Amino acid sequence: MEVIILPGNKEVGVLAADAIESLVRKKPRAVLGLATGSSPLPIYDELARRHEEHGLSFSQASGFALDEYVGLPVGHFESYREVIRREFTNRVDVAPENVHGPDGAATDVEAACKAYEEAIKAAGGVDLQILGVGTNGHIGFNEPGSSLASRTRIKTLADQTREDNARFFDSIEAVPHHVLTQGLGTIMDACHLVLVAFGAGKAEAVHDFVEGPVSASCPASILQFHPHATVIIDEAAASKL
Ligand code: GLP
Repeated sequence: MEVIILPGNKEVGVLAADAIESLVRKKPRAVLGLATGSSPLPIYDELARRHEEHGLSFSQASGFALDEYVGLPVGHFESYREVIRREFTNRVDVAPENVHGPDGAATDVEAACKAYEEAIKAAGGVDLQILGVGTNGHIGFNEPGSSLASRTRIKTLADQTREDNARFFDSIEAVPHHVLTQGLGTIMDACHLVLVAFGAGKAEAVHDFVEGPVSASCPASILQFHPHATVIIDEAAASKL
C-alpha cells in the first residue's frame, strides 16, 4: 500500500485525477469504480475541469457505483445513482448507458446483487476503483464486521454511518437503514484501488486501516492485502500516522 500525504483536499483530488487520466488515455474503454460521499468530489471536480478545458474524454469508458441505498424512489436526489450522475458523469462525456449501480429498488434483492456482480465481470472488471473511508473504517457500505471475502449484497447501516450521512437528508429518520454494496471481495478484484480521505475526522480511521491489523472490524484494512492500493490523504487525515 502506497500512502501519499498532501497539503489539502484540492491536491488530493488532482493526484487521484492524474491516475484516472493516465488510465483513460492508455485505455479509453476503462472501467471506473465510482464512489459517493464528499471525499471523491475534488476528483470529480478536477476531471470535469480537464474534460472542459483539455478535452479529456470518457466517451468509451464505463462506470460502476460502489453502493446504493435501498428503498429510495428512483431518481431520489440522494440516491447514489443520482449523486454520481450529478457530481461526475453528467459533467463529462460518459455515455449514460455505460453508468451502472446496484438496483436499490429491486424486489428480488439477491438476484439484483448477483446481476450486478455479473455486469462487472462482463465489462471485464474494474480497472480503477475510487474509494473514500467512513469514520468507522467502512469502504463502500461494508460496515465493521463485514466478511473480507464478501460480494455484492444487502447490508444494514451502522448507527454511526446513518448519523454521518444524515447531513445529506432532511433528518436522520430519512436516512435508509439498508443498502446494497459491493463486497470487500468485489472491491479487491479491481486492478487499482485509489482511496482518498481528508480532514481530522478521518485521522483515526486512516491510522487504523494503514497501521492497524487487517481485520473485519476495520474493513478498509483489507487494502493492505491489495497488490496495487494507493492511499492519498491530506495532512489532517494523516495526523495520527
Ligand atoms: C458513505 C459511502 C462511502 C464513503 C463514506 C465516506 O457512507 N457509502 O463510499 O466513502 O460514506 O463519506 P465521506 O467521503 O462523505 O466522508
